[in-house]
Amino acid sequence: MLEEDEFMLVVNGEERLIKASADMPLLWALRQEVGLSGVKFGCGAGLCGACTVHLDGSPVRSCVLPLGSVGSSEVTTLEGIQDDPLAERLFDAWLEIDVMQCGYCQAGQIMSAHALLKDNPTPSNEEIDMAMEGNICRCGTYPRIREAIRIASEEEEA
Ligand code: FES
Ligand code: FES
Repeated sequence: MLEEDEFMLVVNGEERLIKASADMPLLWALRQEVGLSGVKFGCGAGLCGACTVHLDGSPVRSCVLPLGSVGSSEVTTLEGIQDDPLAERLFDAWLEIDVMQCGYCQAGQIMSAHALLKDNPTPSNEEIDMAMEGNICRCGTYPRIREAIRIASEEEEA
């Protein structure tokens, strides 16, 4: 039986007991309590996408998601997709065309791109732009992000 300030999260396939207040953003639970640094703090207001993780496979902004509302949903972070073939294609495409500049936004970008290609393996440019529009990159790497998603999706087709 969990206490009021205890939450059992399923993170990257493992149960993690977190002792924190229900209104703690999932972002901080993941970074501070679970020790996962792949999820980044940007705006803290749901506006930039740096903190994107998957909740039951869908991208969510973890900075505005209270710990108390996660329930038994599966949380997946960048660390949790490392061995996934789709993620490997994305990582390869990202490296192939040197997408990253400062890199700060890129974990969130990859989590959104991964969710997109999982649902839609061959998206149009418009669909890519629509899926990625909530992920801000202050370095302006948008054209390379789109191209890398194209490369990863074309490999899927091959
Ligand atoms: S840090 Fe969560 S959307 Fe910006
Ligand atoms: S690569 Fe610098 S913010 Fe996106």
